[in-house]
Amino acid sequence: MTKYQAAQQHLREHQYHWLVTGVAGFIGSNLLEALLRLNQKVTGLDNFSTGYRHNLEQVQELAGAEAWRNFTFIEGDIRRLEDCASACKNVDYVLHEAALGSVPRSIEDPILTNENNISGFLNMLVASRDASVKRFVYAASSSTYGDHPGLPKVESVIGKPLSPYAVTKYVNEIYADVFARCYGIDSIGLRYFNIFGPRQDPNGAYAAVIPQWVAALIKNQTLYINGDGETSRDFCFIDNVIQANLLAALADSPDAANQIYNVALNERTSLNQLYDMMRSLLMEQFPHLQEHRPQYVGFREGDVRHSQADISKARKLLGFEPTHRIDEGLKQAMDWYVAHLAPQ
Ligand SMILES: NC(=O)c1ccc[n+]([C@@H]2O[C@H](COP(=O)([O-])OP(=O)(O)OC[C@H]3O[C@@H](n4cnc5c(N)ncnc54)[C@H](O)[C@@H]3O)[C@@H](O)[C@H]2O)c1
Repeated sequence: MTKYQAAQQHLREHQYHWLVTGVAGFIGSNLLEALLRLNQKVTGLDNFSTGYRHNLEQVQELAGAEAWRNFTFIEGDIRRLEDCASACKNVDYVLHEAALGSVPRSIEDPILTNENNISGFLNMLVASRDASVKRFVYAASSSTYGDHPGLPKVESVIGKPLSPYAVTKYVNEIYADVFARCYGIDSIGLRYFNIFGPRQDPNGAYAAVIPQWVAALIKNQTLYINGDGETSRDFCFIDNVIQANLLAALADSPDAANQIYNVALNERTSLNQLYDMMRSLLMEQFPHLQEHRPQYVGFREGDVRHSQADISKARKLLGFEPTHRIDEGLKQAMDWYVAHLAPQ
């Protein structure tokens, strides 16, 4: 039995109370679905700034009426301490996902990103401390590696941040560390690399590359590749992220706590390769893609050129073993997008 299977088994047999912030978003709603399927009790907090009610409705449908009764939703804002305090009441584990994502958004509006990602994070830490939660697991980011050229990325070696977003995610790690020292709060930061999967928003100027491209491919629209297409990322399917969160929350070795972990695959896929994979997965259903070609535009400000994670720390201390490689993940994600985006 793998560590993850053992963790899932443990959860089926023991019910805990979880708080998922950002629960109406992509990662938060997937965490909610996984927890409800494991018969856990969940409180969710979201202000719908980038998340959607339809994400929650979809989880309700997938998890079923009985599991849904274990869920309490609070519409609230992490920028308000009182909302964080009510959400943390009687909670065992916090999975803190609420934040404003996107490097370009943060360059556009650094103050708003700072308010949500730093002040909001600090409120959540204070509320979690005051509620004496067992562990505070939070979404950190690979953007913290900044301008450091080393590959693969090892948790202990970072460069200078390349965007306001990266600053906020790094400050989160510093705050979590200081809260461990000053107040004894137990936390784990998960540096997500490029995560993808069902319910990731394909719309808007700040959409992530995979959902943005699926939408363009299905609708036969122009698809833009920033730079020469040789920029690479360690794309990671959502199921691996769910695994990392559950393992992080339940890890009982003292060495595992108050640490930061990369969450990815230790693989590198260029944008050109990604485009080819996605196009061929969709080609059979959408014959117009035979003729489709991407359009290359300038490099994007604040973007790092290459990204690939060393995941040996998460393997060793958390027992993390990714279950989905990029091709398996893309297949599942494409099926979901086709079902939800394709014109009927
Ligand atoms: N998706 C990725 O590839 C990726 C990579 C690295 C880190 N992350 C981090 O993972 C977390 C989740 O990202 P996601 O991709 O699911 O994004 P998302 O935008 O889909 O989800 C974020 C959720 O947080 C909510 N939210 C934002 N500000 C809030 C506030 N002030 N109060 C309450 N709720 C608020 C939004 O409404 C949304 O539902 C974020 O912290 C993000 O920075 C994501």
